[in-house]
Amino acid sequence: MSTAPFNAMPLNMDRRDFLGKLGCMSLGASAVAGLGGRVASAGASSAEKVWAPVSDRKVRVGIVGYGVCQFGAAFGFQDHPNVEIVAVSDLIAERRNGLMEACRCDKSYESLEKLVQDPKIEAVFVATDAPNHAKHCMEALNHGKHVMTAVPAVFGSIEQAEQLVETVQKTGLKYMMAETSCYRADNCAMRQIYRAGGFGKLVYSEGEYFHFSPTPIPSFNGWRVGMPPLWYPTHSTAYYVGVTGGRLTSVSCGGFDAGLAANRPGANRYDNPYSDEIALFHTSEGGVSRMLMCKGVQGVIVETGRVYGQRGWMEGTDYHGLLKDLPDLSRPAIPRGMPAGGHGGSHGPLANEFVTAILEDREPLVNVYEALAMTVPGIVAHQSALKDGETLAVPQYDRG
Ligand SMILES: NC(=O)c1ccc[n+]([C@@H]2O[C@H](COP(=O)([O-])OP(=O)(O)OC[C@H]3O[C@@H](n4cnc5c(N)ncnc54)[C@H](O)[C@@H]3O)[C@@H](O)[C@H]2O)c1
Repeated sequence: MSTAPFNAMPLNMDRRDFLGKLGCMSLGASAVAGLGGRVASAGASSAEKVWAPVSDRKVRVGIVGYGVCQFGAAFGFQDHPNVEIVAVSDLIAERRNGLMEACRCDKSYESLEKLVQDPKIEAVFVATDAPNHAKHCMEALNHGKHVMTAVPAVFGSIEQAEQLVETVQKTGLKYMMAETSCYRADNCAMRQIYRAGGFGKLVYSEGEYFHFSPTPIPSFNGWRVGMPPLWYPTHSTAYYVGVTGGRLTSVSCGGFDAGLAANRPGANRYDNPYSDEIALFHTSEGGVSRMLMCKGVQGVIVETGRVYGQRGWMEGTDYHGLLKDLPDLSRPAIPRGMPAGGHGGSHGPLANEFVTAILEDREPLVNVYEALAMTVPGIVAHQSALKDGETLAVPQYDRG
């Protein structure tokens, strides 16, 4: 398993800066050697395939949010040949200027609320703080803009999930959640093999987001301080929902207090005692999934998952199973000159998927239903943890 030891802080970086960078770093999926059987490799990156445009039109994009992770500029919209960056925004002037420079854009607005009033903008990338994602996405949708959001889709609120799905349905606009695990090489290959029948039904799957954080990673208004771990579940749940398109239907979750200062009584706004949460879900195809988010395990920082089916299993990019004629397992191509970007080279493919879905007038891979299917189970898992592991049903938001 690939891990990043916490103490490996570069000498020329102060602790706060280091924590910030660590929070946003591209975390590797583990690649463990296979034990035999039919092995398929899914190593080709998006940059190695040849991208072909589906249109010569430029989508007019606005980008909001240049926080600790500088995510607004990290997905390469500014390098996509089918994109014109019309304007950018961050509430903080210095960040706003940084985003303008990074996106080579000479127009900015003081807030998302002002940016969405620009009639020229047709799509917005929301890279703001997690508690405001749903509100900001609905604001953009209600102003007639397509939206791509950083994860999670909603933050601890089932009510927000309902409002979001209603807004997407009412406006008929494109909504996509930029879940990075969905475009990691292993997850993409698992999805192709699942669709081709190489796993049959999944008996069992696992998704893991370990992020050792003895001190909270910096964040806008401190939203990360003491956050319930599985309110940030999507890097894990992508290893069931993002592979199969299936659903997590009920959950029993255990919480653990590793003794971090942020989880002491009264130390966080969420009244959350847990640094670590490990959830066991039933799935819509009759299997079981174990999904976790852990901040208290010494030194481990990794985003990864595994799937085990009736006809094969997979960890990393090696397939072991019965399927003989394997589909193309490599990731979709991205335009020449557009970086694949962080989180396992997932950023470029995510931005390209959003732009292409607009140009082709089709649903993006992680539409609102898939986004909520990855996000809401974690909210219910935290409720279960607070009730000592009581089994709870997970609300579903599929198209009627
Ligand atoms: N692998 C991943 O997918 C991954 C990794 C890191 C971060 N993220 C997500 O990316 C998002 C951004 O992360 P971050 O650490 O940079 O966040 P942050 O909290 O450091 O910064 C958020 C920024 O949004 C700006 N903002 C808030 N409201 C605004 C408004 N109304 N108008 C304009 N700007 C506004 C703030 O000024 C701030 O600079 C987060 O939601 C996080 O969950 C995802």
